[in-house]
Amino acid sequence: MNAGLPRPQFFRVAESARRPVSFVLDGKPATALEGDTVLTAILSCAGHVRRNEFSGQPRAGFCMMGACQDCWVQTADGEKLRACSTFIRAGMQLLTDAPGESQ
Ligand code: FES
Repeated sequence: MNAGLPRPQFFRVAESARRPVSFVLDGKPATALEGDTVLTAILSCAGHVRRNEFSGQPRAGFCMMGACQDCWVQTADGEKLRACSTFIRAGMQLLTDAPGESQ
């Protein structure tokens, strides 16, 4: 289902019966569940949401509630969104290794 993507950071242990939502992560097909945030959707398929703009180190968010600004992620069309406070939508194309900049 999320073949070809790196080892995920999150593993689901409950609520697996929600409807699947298809999106694209780093050019590969991926699946989340309806009601997931973008952060949950990405980290259920991959190990990070972005790279630090200075060090290049992987980042996976911190506060999970919209306060720290550590989870900004870029879409394939250049839009930037805060992953922990944005719901995943079908067809979203998200990039975890896009060139970053501070928000
Ligand atoms: S994880 Fe802190 S703002 Fe998103």
